Amino acid sequence: MTVLCHRVYSGLEIYFNKMKKKLNIAVSGIGNRALPKGIQTSNWLGWVELIHRSDEFELVAAHDPSAESIQRMVERGYLKPEQNFTDLTRMLTNVPCDALLVCNPVQYHASTIRQAIDHDLHLLVEKPFTDDLQEGRELVSLIQRKKLTACVVQNWRNKDVGRLMHQHIQDGQLGKIGHIFFRYVRDRENPKLPPYIFQEKFPLLYAMGIHHLDLFRYILNDEIISVQGQSFKPDWSLYESDTGLNLFLKTKRGTSIIYSGTISSPNKVISQESLIVEGEKGTLINESQWSEPPLWYYPKGIVDRIELTKHIKGQDRETTEQYNRSDRNILRNFSQSILGKEEPVCRAEDALKSIEVLEASRRACETGEVVYLDTTPELQLENS
Ligand SMILES: NC(=O)c1ccc[n+]([C@@H]2O[C@H](COP(=O)([O-])OP(=O)(O)OC[C@H]3O[C@@H](n4cnc5c(N)ncnc54)[C@H](O)[C@@H]3O)[C@@H](O)[C@H]2O)c1
Repeated sequence: MTVLCHRVYSGLEIYFNKMKKKLNIAVSGIGNRALPKGIQTSNWLGWVELIHRSDEFELVAAHDPSAESIQRMVERGYLKPEQNFTDLTRMLTNVPCDALLVCNPVQYHASTIRQAIDHDLHLLVEKPFTDDLQEGRELVSLIQRKKLTACVVQNWRNKDVGRLMHQHIQDGQLGKIGHIFFRYVRDRENPKLPPYIFQEKFPLLYAMGIHHLDLFRYILNDEIISVQGQSFKPDWSLYESDTGLNLFLKTKRGTSIIYSGTISSPNKVISQESLIVEGEKGTLINESQWSEPPLWYYPKGIVDRIELTKHIKGQDRETTEQYNRSDRNILRNFSQSILGKEEPVCRAEDALKSIEVLEASRRACETGEVVYLDTTPELQLENS
């Protein structure tokens, strides 16, 4: 009887989902993140395929200045030729839609977001929200004035490890957090990457640091108040800017964060990410490539460790499924936020605080000074 009820219920749910009107979404930037060139080797299915599979959104148009990117959309059967645009204004003027996914290189995020706001569109923006804090602030105030929903893809929050760390810490199971150690060693010295990548300022910070520093804010539910740091790069680097960072950050509640990393590592053996979070009641450890399970909890004074991710089985633990699971959650959360049924996991205002940390880190490395994010005199005194 229970099984029968469940089947009838599931059938009804599928029927009602099909009857539900989907939200119309367009996308700007059809690169590797939106539609991977190498499907077999990609770490994710990509936004276009996930939207295609979703019950919440209908992909109605795409914008990209590159004819090659548009061709991939058409050849793979996602959109008809007339649904693709090389000009953003033409797409936004001609295609009625509810939302825009901004998935182009970061230097174009702000201008794309501004145009979308002019057309009253809700926004899902790939990280980082913008590459300029001041401009980001202006955009957020425009978004607020128009009461639009703007979510940012901070997927390290949405992966199982990030979600469970947040839960474990916020449930008080680690007690007060004393310090976080994070080490990142990655080989991103790949000449096949698009040339603009090698010209970006502080590429570790804006490409990956944004994931990690945002994750720390999220799991701690705390704000960074000061940063000290140095940057560096080895002779063999292809990048214009420094590719390594050594940061020391302090939070409002007194947690110390040591963040050291490079994207110029020749290493292909040891894990890229090593994260250790220590509280008065124990330690959390995650050694991974891109924040995959396992997440271990070592309670204080006990030899046995506990795997907090053990309920995640098989393929779901692997890199690709971890990306896809979190991307699906982000899409669902975006639609529910537009409909007013959920709070965004990362709204633009929140993402802006992580951009503030990036800018402070960059300034700390450039000047060699301690940079304070909240400049009230008491805070400066406390930390000096
Ligand atoms: N969340 C994640 O895990 C993750 C991973 C990779 C990339 N990203 C983000 O996704 C975004 C895109 O990265 P990518 O790896 O797909 O880059 P990419 O270089 O592979 O593709 C960028 C695409 O944007 C197009 N483009 C260039 N200028 C444009 C413009 N003015 N307007 C619209 N499109 C334009 C290019 O033709 C290209 O097709 C970036 O913001 C990046 O930070 C996020």
